[in-house]
Amino acid sequence: SGPTDPRISVIGTGYLGTTHAVCMAELGFEVVGVDVDAERVRRLAAGEVPFFEPGLEALLRKHLEAGRLSFTGSPAAAVDQADVHFVCVGTPQRPDSGAADVRHVDAAVSGLVTAGLGPGDLVVGKSTVPAGTASRLAARLAAAAPGAELAWNPEFLREGIAVDDTLHPDRIVLGVAPGGTAEARLRAVYARMTDAGTPVIVTDYATAELVKVAANAFLATKISFVNAMAEVCDATGADVAELAAALGHDPRIGPRFLRAGIGFGGGCLPKDIRAFQARARELGVGPALGFLAEVDAVNMRARDRAVALAHEVLGGQPANRAVGVLGAAFKPNSDDIRDSPALDVAVALRRAGCHVSVYDPAAAANAQDRHPDLHVAGSVMGAVTGAELLLVLTEWPEFRELDPALIRPHVTRPVVLDGRGALDARRWQEAGWAYHALGRPA
Ligand code: UGA
Repeated sequence: SGPTDPRISVIGTGYLGTTHAVCMAELGFEVVGVDVDAERVRRLAAGEVPFFEPGLEALLRKHLEAGRLSFTGSPAAAVDQADVHFVCVGTPQRPDSGAADVRHVDAAVSGLVTAGLGPGDLVVGKSTVPAGTASRLAARLAAAAPGAELAWNPEFLREGIAVDDTLHPDRIVLGVAPGGTAEARLRAVYARMTDAGTPVIVTDYATAELVKVAANAFLATKISFVNAMAEVCDATGADVAELAAALGHDPRIGPRFLRAGIGFGGGCLPKDIRAFQARARELGVGPALGFLAEVDAVNMRARDRAVALAHEVLGGQPANRAVGVLGAAFKPNSDDIRDSPALDVAVALRRAGCHVSVYDPAAAANAQDRHPDLHVAGSVMGAVTGAELLLVLTEWPEFRELDPALIRPHVTRPVVLDGRGALDARRWQEAGWAYHALGRPA
């Protein structure tokens, strides 16, 4: 690194911001992370990542110790110490309309403007926003902080593999205004990736904003497509796992994101498809995204179908039946329970009167906080022992690798419902288990 290297600030140290700040330090830059949450700043500065993400805490500590990375509550420090400012704040779903709430984005930009943003400063939006947000913010900067530039650079990282996704992205999308310095400066930031062959797409603001939500809408559609096929499989006696494997051999379709089960959850896919529909309605093109309402409906139905299948397996008598649930997080390698299909199914069974015992290697504490009345076990055996039905609802590696013969003696009845298509059905059947899954014959 040389004296002309960009100095970086990251506004917002949630999931995205913390990962981005740490990875920018890993690229060799000086980075300051800014957050309004003083407790979060304190924990990060002490080397503690406040959520579960493999590999992130070690890198955080490495760069804190190297003096390359710091955290503060003050946007003034960002403007003083840095010239490229990444906005990584959340855009939660508004309860009324499902639209994205961009108030934190506006507040982050206001904070920078008030701190004296001006010529030489580049503001880079990474948050997922409704199309049109960037051009609105650019107009605001032109009026309130003349000389400062804006770019939009959406992020495609996945939870659980966030560090690797950030350091080795599939593509870099830069939404820029014509004639500015933003493209050159961001190419300098991402030089290590582009040197390694990562493609860069340079485009306008609206296209950059749309790439992000369109990608998530496509992924959600792919998952709901296979879950819709699972419904048809259940009606015909066909096997959705074999169907998906056969479909995936067509390279135009591809095998990924075709795993049938209890559907998608988390902080992104469900929220983004709703916000995208709300924005399309505002823009007068609601019908263009009408199918996303169906994608959402298929997805929510997958949870209901899992609950219905559990009832059926319990002979229609869920009350007081012992049910073991493996998984609470919305996906493996995460402690995130936002809109988690696994937790939704567990809570529905609890409400139906089952004695539910849940185990998750990382999300147990979050699940217990959210649902104090849910019994959360400390181990697989704790959740499984005495169960008349076992549900696998998050495909953690330690669940996929379970030895069905080993746990069989601990359950009251060897019946498993594989909510994620994660288990080797034949192996469980050979060990004496009744195997059930959505879209697969019993
Ligand atoms: C998603 C996108 O994959 C990222 O590219 C994007 O950057 C991110 O949202 C975001 O907008 O920030 P993430 O929410 O971490 O990432 O999780 P995914 O790996 O996409 O999984 C989402 C859900 O789909 C999980 O509940 C998962 O279990 C489910 N899923 C995934 C299926 O049900 N079937 C599949 O075949 C694949």
